[in-house]
Amino acid sequence: MPHLISIHDLSKAELLSYLDLAEHIHNQPPTQELLKNKLISLAFFEPSTRTRLSFEAAALRLGAKVMGVSEAQNTSTAKGETLSDTARVLGGYSDALIIRHPQEGAARLAAEYAGIPVINAGDGANQHPSQTLLDLFTLRQAFGKLEKLNLAVMGDLKNARTIHSLIEAASFFDMRIYGIPSHENLSLPTDLIEILKRRGVKFSFHHPKDLEFLMPKLDVLYLSRLQKERLEKSQLQHYAGQYSGITLKILKNAQPHFKILHPLPRQQELPPEIDHTPHALYFEQAKNGVIVRQAILLKALGISLPLQSPSHHEFLKNLEHFGVSHA
Ligand code: CP
Repeated sequence: MPHLISIHDLSKAELLSYLDLAEHIHNQPPTQELLKNKLISLAFFEPSTRTRLSFEAAALRLGAKVMGVSEAQNTSTAKGETLSDTARVLGGYSDALIIRHPQEGAARLAAEYAGIPVINAGDGANQHPSQTLLDLFTLRQAFGKLEKLNLAVMGDLKNARTIHSLIEAASFFDMRIYGIPSHENLSLPTDLIEILKRRGVKFSFHHPKDLEFLMPKLDVLYLSRLQKERLEKSQLQHYAGQYSGITLKILKNAQPHFKILHPLPRQQELPPEIDHTPHALYFEQAKNGVIVRQAILLKALGISLPLQSPSHHEFLKNLEHFGVSHA
């Protein structure tokens, strides 16, 4: 069953196959309703704007129908129904299930029971694989490559599932990772550090004050907000006043090609004055969610794009492949 549960489950080739399909869709948007007669369940037991609506847009643009849950208290979860039963029932109604849930491992559990392809739209502080695919798609578009980028991840490294997924994926591409927890208690979980060590990834951790000095080395800064939904009230007050991010002053040290990504929503770590700089890539990143999630839905449902003539971009890539200069 072609689920998408965790970046950990993917090989580099599988991961790239999502990006290549998304690129194909970007270059030649499908004209046929490839998912006509398909019904997609969106079961969101946590709030969402981008993930839910971009999956919905992706499904509708491909001709599918969607049905959804956006508030757990309006479902029989409020009456004590288990996630495995809910997944089994939705599996009987629809062709694919996209699930966001506060519990780590919820999507994997749903996949065991649903009997249809399941896509993890975020499970607690664990993983957000569709976000990572759109992050990588955005980076590849901006830099023309993923290999050997100097990537800083800054913010709530402990709880941000977007960062957990991203750095696992980054390990495939020999990226150099600079971890900058916005507070000393918000560093990366040890199991992820072990994965990075095992995979031979070059990484180091830094105080937020070091960002200014690291800036000339960086290609990308990936920011995340304080994940308040994973914190106690007392912790929240403690961190909120001391949470660091990017400023226009720090940005003065950036290379011209330097880019900022953020999965959004943002808070104080990414002030709106940054939006007007050439380094802001986060709204383009959010927009790419639709194309990348179109690719994810097609792969989950085993639908291939109809044969089309290669796009100009692919034509040039093919020429390069066969050693033909097109300068
Ligand atoms: N990036 C992201 O997951 O945003 P939402 O929480 O709005 O879906």
